[in-house]
Amino acid sequence: MSLPLITLRDLHFSYAGGLEVLKGVSFDLHPGERVALTGSNGAGKSTLLRLINGLEKPDQGQIEAFGSLRQQEKDFREVRVRAGLVFQDPDDQLFCPTVAEDLAFGPLNLGKSHQEVMDIVGRTLSLLHLEDLAHRITHKLSGGQKRLVALATVMALEPDVLLLDEPTNDLDRETKQRLIAILTELPLAMVIVSHNHHFLNRVATRQVELSEGRLFEAAEEKATVLEI
Ligand SMILES: Nc1ncnc2c1ncn2[C@@H]1O[C@H](COP(=O)(O)OP(=O)(O)OP(=O)(O)O)[C@@H](O)[C@H]1O
Ligand SMILES: [Mg+2]
Repeated sequence: MSLPLITLRDLHFSYAGGLEVLKGVSFDLHPGERVALTGSNGAGKSTLLRLINGLEKPDQGQIEAFGSLRQQEKDFREVRVRAGLVFQDPDDQLFCPTVAEDLAFGPLNLGKSHQEVMDIVGRTLSLLHLEDLAHRITHKLSGGQKRLVALATVMALEPDVLLLDEPTNDLDRETKQRLIAILTELPLAMVIVSHNHHFLNRVATRQVELSEGRLFEAAEEKATVLEI
């Protein structure tokens, strides 16, 4: 198998003044893998995604992403673009007046030309079947629409890895099916946090579980690893 895109070694983490949430987590994410990250409420799943992205820094342990050790804030700027985090709460992700502006914000910030950004926005809306929402006011969208737009803003950065925190929350049955089809067709590595086992069984190639601050590999491989 090819070199991992992300490697976590013995991560320990506590929030200020709180109990230790992660007590020695090690993990490799390889190209093409779609890893289900499960665990009970408060187990530390969202925290682990935030650490991969550098939004929290470990008390101990190492994070390697895309071939380099990442320690300082500046090391994580590239990681945040290449490993796009879709937050558990879409309101944490969306802050522009309209959907199209929210999608354009990231690519514009990366210095892409107006035309490139227009192309990316159009492509991403079409990939997620969201063309009709382009000019809608973001904060007036429904919960499910916001969740898809939040995913679209991350996809617009053309990441190599997706970190998805409960992506099916608020989605109706049909939209969940559409999301399954989209995710399984994308040639990206993913870590997917979800409590929806039907969804995970359809999408994930591997499952790990966070319990009492440690990460356990589920005994059974869910499906064959996507070859890319
Ligand atoms: N900003 C914070 N400050 C202090 N403690 C926090 C903070 N965010 C989370 N925690 C605590 O850290 C632990 C892990 O939280 P986290 O949100 O990572 O859990 P989770 O596995 O994502 O849970 P859920 O399934 O409910 O989303 C919990 O005990 C939570 O109360
Ligand atoms: Mg969470």
